[in-house]
Amino acid sequence: MRSLRYIFLSMIVLGVQPVFAADEGQLLSGDAKNYIGYGAIILTLIVLIIAMLIVLKAFKVVARLLLGPEGATTVKAEKAAAKAERKAARAIRWQKLLSLKPLSEEGSILLEDDYDGIKELDNPTPAWFMALFYVTIAFGIGYLLIYHVFKTAPLQYEEYKIEMADAAKAKAQYLAKAGEKVDENTVKLSTDPAVLADGKSVFTQRCAPCHGDHGQGVVGPNLTDDYWLHGNKINDIFKTIEYGVPAKGMPTWESQLTPKQIADVANYIKSIHGTNPANPKEPQGTKMTDEAGTAKTAMLQK
Ligand code: HEC
Repeated sequence: MRSLRYIFLSMIVLGVQPVFAADEGQLLSGDAKNYIGYGAIILTLIVLIIAMLIVLKAFKVVARLLLGPEGATTVKAEKAAAKAERKAARAIRWQKLLSLKPLSEEGSILLEDDYDGIKELDNPTPAWFMALFYVTIAFGIGYLLIYHVFKTAPLQYEEYKIEMADAAKAKAQYLAKAGEKVDENTVKLSTDPAVLADGKSVFTQRCAPCHGDHGQGVVGPNLTDDYWLHGNKINDIFKTIEYGVPAKGMPTWESQLTPKQIADVANYIKSIHGTNPANPKEPQGTKMTDEAGTAKTAMLQK
């Protein structure tokens, strides 16, 4: 028995090992070892169960030896009697559940009617059916109270509307987030009035003090002329705004504006190009007119 135990133990250890150490270049693959391990565990359990059954049998033998032949028979008789009793009780319970009368008492529920010799028993409705019936009544009352009297829970149509509203909210959130993901590489030129309006409000609040109400330039350069220090493409402008030029007095806006706000204000700056505001600051940087939209505004200027 002891040697058997060692064999099983070593099998388990062998099998479980690869679970802890990822192995390569070993004789057995990790999977195979795992299967051996699980197999060994299951085998051990089976052997354990068999051993327990054997021990139980041994106890019975010992008990029989201790009680002697008569003792054994009385125990057997007692057991049989108890079993019969339980069986009878079960039968009665079953009969009650089905509301059946024992055959011997059927005469008492025989109806008068006689259809050519065919008679009918007046069996009551089975108890299980009545129980179900009362449960449905209770359920109905509960349903009426909850959904139509106190209105504590929404009806199907309201539930549908609530779920649709939730979905719409989630969708709006998702779209807002997707819109927020823009950066200097993905930003797109836009003439959408909503974008420009948002950009204008950001500009008046944050940028006008240095760039002027109309972008004509104060401390910061004129943003409406053809001269640019850091590029005139939408991507360049986005980048300038996002990271700023701290050494030259242009703040970094990365942490104060959302990417979408930066994109909007960048587009707003593109939109005011060539508007020739009053009191423009003298040109700074190099002349750039190579971007889409520039030609159009250049024509407007003439
Ligand atoms: C504190 C003053 C100040 C504020 C506020 C400010 N800027 Fe500037 N901005 C500057 C200065 C100064 C420069 C010039 C940087 C340089 O010389 O390199 C500049 C440059 C720029 C440029 C580059 C122009 C070019 O010629 O390439 C853009 C675009 C710009 N700012 C946009 C904005 C926007 C948009 C805001 C608001 C979100 C803003 N700035 C707010 C001072 C400011």
